[in-house]
Amino acid sequence: MVQERITLLQNKRIVLGVTGGIAAYKVVDLASKLTQAGALVDVVMTAAAREFVTPLTFQAVTGRAVHTALWGMNSGGLPTHIAHIGLGESADLLLIAPATANTLAKMAAGLADDLLTVTVLAARCPLLVSPAMDGGMYEHAATQENLATLRRRGVLVAEPEEGRFASGLVGKGRLPETQTLIGAVRHTLGRLGRLRHRKIVITAGGTREPLDPVRFITNRSSGKQGYALAQAALDLGAQVVLVSAARTLLAPYGAQVVPVETAEEMCAAVVEHMKDADALLMAAAVADFRPQTIAEQKIKKREGSSDGLHLDLVRTPDILLTVSEMHKKAQTAPVLVGFAAESEHLLENAASKLRRKGLDLLVANDIRSSDAGFDVDTNRAVILDKNGGQEVLALASKAVIAESIMQRVGDLMIRP
Ligand code: CTP
Repeated sequence: MVQERITLLQNKRIVLGVTGGIAAYKVVDLASKLTQAGALVDVVMTAAAREFVTPLTFQAVTGRAVHTALWGMNSGGLPTHIAHIGLGESADLLLIAPATANTLAKMAAGLADDLLTVTVLAARCPLLVSPAMDGGMYEHAATQENLATLRRRGVLVAEPEEGRFASGLVGKGRLPETQTLIGAVRHTLGRLGRLRHRKIVITAGGTREPLDPVRFITNRSSGKQGYALAQAALDLGAQVVLVSAARTLLAPYGAQVVPVETAEEMCAAVVEHMKDADALLMAAAVADFRPQTIAEQKIKKREGSSDGLHLDLVRTPDILLTVSEMHKKAQTAPVLVGFAAESEHLLENAASKLRRKGLDLLVANDIRSSDAGFDVDTNRAVILDKNGGQEVLALASKAVIAESIMQRVGDLMIRP
């Protein structure tokens, strides 16, 4: 998979501490993807890590020197243990992945007997650890107590996943996938962004309206634009609730995902979360109609008959309108953003939806082009505002489109 550049990571200095677990080989991919995304990755390896992967491998994927020794002279003639104090001092993030039980124990005790643990003590940046270990080592009381100590000191922990270990045992302790770890890095770096302390509700995907136990009516929405918006909001430090009717996408790290199926379920979840939220972005494609009744058993054809099937459809709630009216009554004014996918009269239809639903912004896109809209990874759109303004967003990845939209939402949320 090609890694897109990530705005938040541009020229961010990440010190990646690699310790000696089998998962060290997976972190080569992480170092590579972080570099491709725009970060400057300085790898520090423990002696045990070098038993699994060579420094040359990390040097090749990061294009930067890899640091291993505490003692000796560096190229500038300084003893390396002094020169490398600078590694931790000037970094934006110190990430240790995989973090073995041994390194976590040393960190909890404040030991500094190799370059990585010296760097940990010298670091003035956020510290994120991704524990990974075999067997029952993660669940062991010693490891858990060490992690609790580190958390108390403000260290952030990317939880390991359940799965099968190299030893064949099954349990909790596997290093998360690269994209999850990149999500954890973004979450850590974005925490103090301009939307910190703001709660944003985002909907995504196409709702499903059941006909019977096996069939449903839905639409072509993939949820990709909504998920990209959630990631863009997290990058700015927002608290994100993602009310999702999409099923197959990886949840952005740090988002609270509320899975829903129908328009009614989505409406209930949105109304609940909007009680204390600052913005709503309705990127979901909500079904406007649902079958009036849901058959308890699978609908059958009549034997020997060529009769068609008549379906009675009834309206679903208009979620944006419901929320807009709820806030008018309560005299609160969260930022409300709608999305309109149109196949004709794009701007006229979009402008009338913006007015009708009482929105601050409406993002309109023309679904007739094959490089924008449903399911593809790119989009182009026009942002309409309630004062009649229009901003054209040229063809770009959904991530870039999401960033532009979130900037506009951020400007409205942080009203002077
Ligand atoms: N929307 C909603 N509740 C619905 C339908 C739509 O909140 N029951 C939201 C969508 O999530 C989107 C915006 O309203 O942000 C516009 O959706 P769209 O389907 O284009 O608008 P409709 O009002 O349903 O108009 P149309 O007749 O074109 O379907």
